[in-house]
Amino acid sequence: MTAGGQAARSGVEPARAAGGPGAAADGTSPAIEVSDLVFAWPGKPPLLRIERFAVARGERVFLRGPSGSGKSTLLGLVGGVLAPASGSVRLLGSEVSTLSAAARDRFRGEHLGFVFQMFNLIPYLGVLQNVMLPALFSAGRATRIGGPAALRAEAVRLLAALGLSDRSMLEREVTQLSIGQQQRVAAARALLGRPEIIVADEPTSSLDHDARENFLRLLMDECRAQGSTLLFVSHDTSLGPLFDRIESLTELNRRAGGPAPA
Ligand SMILES: Nc1ncnc2c1ncn2[C@@H]1O[C@H](COP(=O)(O)OP(=O)(O)OP(=O)(O)O)[C@@H](O)[C@H]1O
Ligand SMILES: [Mg+2]
Repeated sequence: MTAGGQAARSGVEPARAAGGPGAAADGTSPAIEVSDLVFAWPGKPPLLRIERFAVARGERVFLRGPSGSGKSTLLGLVGGVLAPASGSVRLLGSEVSTLSAAARDRFRGEHLGFVFQMFNLIPYLGVLQNVMLPALFSAGRATRIGGPAALRAEAVRLLAALGLSDRSMLEREVTQLSIGQQQRVAAARALLGRPEIIVADEPTSSLDHDARENFLRLLMDECRAQGSTLLFVSHDTSLGPLFDRIESLTELNRRAGGPAPA
């Protein structure tokens, strides 16, 4: 799937304790909590039926599943890019599936860093502008960086950690980058301002070995620094041990009697 698709409404630390299903937005509820969720693409039978999937605050979860099983779709639902046919998606204790499109966008901008499988960079903006974008929409993320004066330096720091330190690169339009470079820009944008939740959809798929190692180190460091929650999708199961828990989407779906994978 792609963001804004046709169904769009418009070294590892231990896991922390999860709140119960009814926990309030008081810091004890899970970072991500999906309950009784059903999702179908238009004209298709339900793709996802998930009774409960929760990620505790500060927990790092690796989500696996065959191609076409609905991993990106689930991440789109968690990220508020897609809306469920029924059921609930709670982030940090707030029900996001019933928010208006504008309120959901605001919530996502404030609390969520999302590395989309297709990157979703803004094509008419340069590399630095793409990375700095979240701070323009989120007071919390801007404040954590240290305000507008520190914004550019923070974007440069993240890009440099990902091997994009060439000055000539920073002002270049993102459409003039290689796919692997675009993926790293998307990663830097998601991490800017250390959001509470980071959702990453195949974020290493186009990276060579060194770029992949650099990205994973930065990702884990940034998560640890903020106590961020991480939901990470990859076909590369060798990355599993970096995470607190591995979830199989096929299993999640099967438990609730959902469809077998495509
Ligand atoms: N925008 C869309 N409109 C209609 N169907 C879609 C759309 N996006 C995805 N699908 C369908 O939903 C199913 C799950 O797709 P999804 O992209 O979530 O799988 P995935 O597990 O992320 O796969 P991959 O590992 O290849 O990225 C597929 O059958 C796909 O054809
Ligand atoms: Mg996918």
